[in-house]
Amino acid sequence: MKLRTIDGLDLRGKYVLLRDDFNVQIVDGKITDAFRIEQSMPTINKLRQMGARVAICAHLGRPKGTRNMEYTLKPVAEYMGIKLIQDCLDKDFMHDMHDGDVVLLENVRFYAGEEKNDPTFSAELARGFDAYVNDAFAVSHRAHASTVGVAEILPSYAGDLLASEIEHLSAVMENPKRPLLSIVAGSKVSTKIGVLKALAKLSDTLIIGGALGTTFNYATGARVGNSLYEADQVDTALEILEFARENNCRVLLPMDKGVAKEFARDAERTNKDFSQIEDDDIIIDAGIATTERDVNEIKNAKTVIWNGTVGMAEWAPIWSYGSFALANAIAEQTRMGKLESIVGGGDTVAALTALGVKDDITYVSTGGGAFLEFVEGRTLPGVAILEEK
Ligand code: 3PG
Repeated sequence: MKLRTIDGLDLRGKYVLLRDDFNVQIVDGKITDAFRIEQSMPTINKLRQMGARVAICAHLGRPKGTRNMEYTLKPVAEYMGIKLIQDCLDKDFMHDMHDGDVVLLENVRFYAGEEKNDPTFSAELARGFDAYVNDAFAVSHRAHASTVGVAEILPSYAGDLLASEIEHLSAVMENPKRPLLSIVAGSKVSTKIGVLKALAKLSDTLIIGGALGTTFNYATGARVGNSLYEADQVDTALEILEFARENNCRVLLPMDKGVAKEFARDAERTNKDFSQIEDDDIIIDAGIATTERDVNEIKNAKTVIWNGTVGMAEWAPIWSYGSFALANAIAEQTRMGKLESIVGGGDTVAALTALGVKDDITYVSTGGGAFLEFVEGRTLPGVAILEEK
């Protein structure tokens, strides 16, 4: 896929509407993980150096078309040290801009027209701008006004982050070094059917873990006690296992688990294989034998695609055991030059950050849902519209 990029454009003095994904976690008004913002900085700086007058358009959370200040982008503007324009449709600020200036527009999802991709809203958002740049890979699976609508109106281009996401993810999907190991975990089978099938088709081995794995264990007759699983997804799980068999993909399900009697950060942890699991046991993490096996699989792989933690990684140190072991093994193998690693998804990236190993990974995607849809082979509307014809 060849995208129209900003390289070689003459943007001096031009008003550029830049779409970024600043949908970051904010606790008590403070940003807890600035990864998406940091990844967006090179394009912002490049546009500034090109002399553009940049207004960044972004969303935070799901305020459902109302001006709910719980979802203000003020903490992001403060973090970046730039001015926040209180209304994304306001154009007055343009008069005060000089070449190389950057401002942030308030949450575009304060308007219902955004998610509806309403043409009138798109026209109003685009008004006054000379060009549109999309660097928000993480929201490009949404056909919204700020990802598609404005791109239909203004000369539109891909930013460097978006282009780099597509380049790295495409390279792995199209020509992975084998053996290719995919690790998919997280909570819901229903949200991962497409990606599981796509990866079963592509991978030599597929590890299914986390609560997702528990549903697969349950579907294959294992005892899961009082754990989180989706009873209504049993047929789907069996169908995915059959699909993997047909595609010669080896599927590895959890063999044992870290369990407790209550679902709590400081709950007492016991390691059990499935035959030992009692009715009141709650699975919270991968077990010791499973983790050892998975680490070995990582050591034998040439490419790893990882999405989803295999336990409550945020409840360190007790319940992060499985996820952190995978993260460390992937980082170490990559560092030694033995592995190409691709990681995507908020909780998975947070585990890498917590361990300080993010920089060791070959490519860390800023995408959550967008990453999954891309891997699934689906067309991302915000990207398709930037394709060079
Ligand atoms: C994300 O965080 O994955 C993106 O910003 C998309 O957010 P959404 O799922 O609310 O559309």
